[in-house]
Amino acid sequence: MSISGNLTDLAGQTAIVTGGARGLGLGIAQRLAVAGCHVALWDVNFSSFDGDNAGFVPILEQKVDVSDAAAVDVAFAEVVAKAGQVEILVNNAGINGPIHAVSDYPIEAWQRVLAIDLNGVFHGCRSAVPHMRERGYGRIVNVASIAGKEGNPGGSAYAAAKGGVIAFSKSLAKELATSGILVNCIAPTMAETELLQEMTPEFIATIRSKIPMARFLRIEEVAEMVAWIASPACSFTTGFTFDLTGGRATY
Ligand SMILES: NC(=O)c1ccc[n+]([C@@H]2O[C@H](COP(=O)([O-])OP(=O)(O)OC[C@H]3O[C@@H](n4cnc5c(N)ncnc54)[C@H](O)[C@@H]3O)[C@@H](O)[C@H]2O)c1
Repeated sequence: MSISGNLTDLAGQTAIVTGGARGLGLGIAQRLAVAGCHVALWDVNFSSFDGDNAGFVPILEQKVDVSDAAAVDVAFAEVVAKAGQVEILVNNAGINGPIHAVSDYPIEAWQRVLAIDLNGVFHGCRSAVPHMRERGYGRIVNVASIAGKEGNPGGSAYAAAKGGVIAFSKSLAKELATSGILVNCIAPTMAETELLQEMTPEFIATIRSKIPMARFLRIEEVAEMVAWIASPACSFTTGFTFDLTGGRATY
């Protein structure tokens, strides 16, 4: 056995981070860049991305709506054309959707949440997997949520989508188990990002009260975990959902 340092050295690898213009996605992109990755950012809105202060230069900033399968295919091909190869895909783009009881949940909002949060993950994976299979290597990290394990009253669309991401990832991981491509999820609790703008103060307070560590998650804690899962150091774990809940989740 040999133990080497700097296990999250990703020098020369290429990563795509969806929803990478701000929030958790930007933090993940910054951390992957620090580890040596060339990072392509996919987002529908780059207005909050400040290239001068991001601390890294993305190889591409692509305006992509992950709910559009054809657009995702095109964007993935552009990254391959630019970088030659893609080792890492972080499916992070997501919206919360409005907070309503199920019987009042607007059908259009339900469909939009599912289209972005669940279908978007499927679209990213279906574009990336053939390329990763050809190369015999890949790390896919899908950003789910504790809501996908436990549910949240008022947030049924989001919880359903995130629960779907967890089950989808387990299925894909088993399909790819001997391919060199690992597929895992993270299930964060609440971090203070702009995602919270769609939530009511009561909803936010309820979630905070459920966190045993009595604080919100920090973006850098998410980024650190994702960097490890996305690295070769994560080698015998696939189809798993890594916890980021300050002790909330007991499974
Ligand atoms: N913040 C939290 O508390 C929390 C907790 C658990 C899980 N998550 C998940 O983490 C991920 C990132 O959330 P965040 O808190 O950084 O949110 P955020 O709203 O700050 O950032 C999300 C990013 O995704 C982009 N995006 C939205 N729709 C898109 C689409 N159709 N195609 C491409 N990009 C799109 C947005 O423009 C934005 O830049 C989401 O999947 C979210 O569900 C967040």
